[in-house]
Amino acid sequence: MEAARAGAEEIMRFFNKEFTISNKQGVNNLVTEADHASEKAIISVIHKHFPDHAILGEESGEIIQDSNYKWVIDPIDGTVNFAHGIPLNCVSIAIEKDGKIILAAVFNPHLNEMFFAEKGKGATLNDKSIRVSEQDQAIRACLVTGFPYTYINMPNGPLEIFERFVRKGVPVRRLGSAAIDLCWVAAGRFDGFYEHKLEPWDSAAGYLIVEEAGGRVTDLAGDEFSIYQHKVLATNGKIHDEMVAVINNKKEL
Ligand code: IPD
Ligand code: CA
Ligand code: CA
Repeated sequence: MEAARAGAEEIMRFFNKEFTISNKQGVNNLVTEADHASEKAIISVIHKHFPDHAILGEESGEIIQDSNYKWVIDPIDGTVNFAHGIPLNCVSIAIEKDGKIILAAVFNPHLNEMFFAEKGKGATLNDKSIRVSEQDQAIRACLVTGFPYTYINMPNGPLEIFERFVRKGVPVRRLGSAAIDLCWVAAGRFDGFYEHKLEPWDSAAGYLIVEEAGGRVTDLAGDEFSIYQHKVLATNGKIHDEMVAVINNKKEL
């Protein structure tokens, strides 16, 4: 949490002010001065307390160490929102131990919302316990998704699935921050979230927060989730199998 707050301080220092913007792969895949400043602040907190831990940061890549612990960092999740002055972005930090995510913090400084989870100990929002929703029908669900910066043409691709839900009148939101999407599933605001092309730093913290809030996270086929593959389906658990069936076009809504 200390590291997430340090990163968020940099987000707020630059938010709606001047900062340099450059492009990564894909014309709208941005990185700003604030992303780098946030990641630097986060890493300096980690180095202060755990100088021998490994780190995987979106902007600085891997800092390899001979350690059982690896910190997985997204210094700003929702950079496009950030660059447009939209107050929906956050810092996302997870700790992996021996290949399992054991701790997670996602902090949205604009709403002052700190989501936190420890494996086996539940999930919290600003220190209050959170739970996924009770909705048990996909047709009545409130969903959220995201779209990749470079479109992927594939069967059951992002637009095909979006269309399938929207044509039946299901509300499908698009916030622009996968970490916030996941945390909002954990808090019961959304019943489900899916996305096709996430990276480890987008999903690692939110994944544990959803699971610890009583939800379920798999890939889009309904198989075991790993942060090192791209596809994510996170739900309250109750609509999970139905979502898998609709996503894979095995069932009509
Ligand atoms: C992005 C956001 C977005 C998702 C993209 C991610 P970034 O992360 O999480 O919601 O749709 O796939 O890359 O670039 O803002 O850190
Ligand atoms: Ca991200
Ligand atoms: Ca980012």
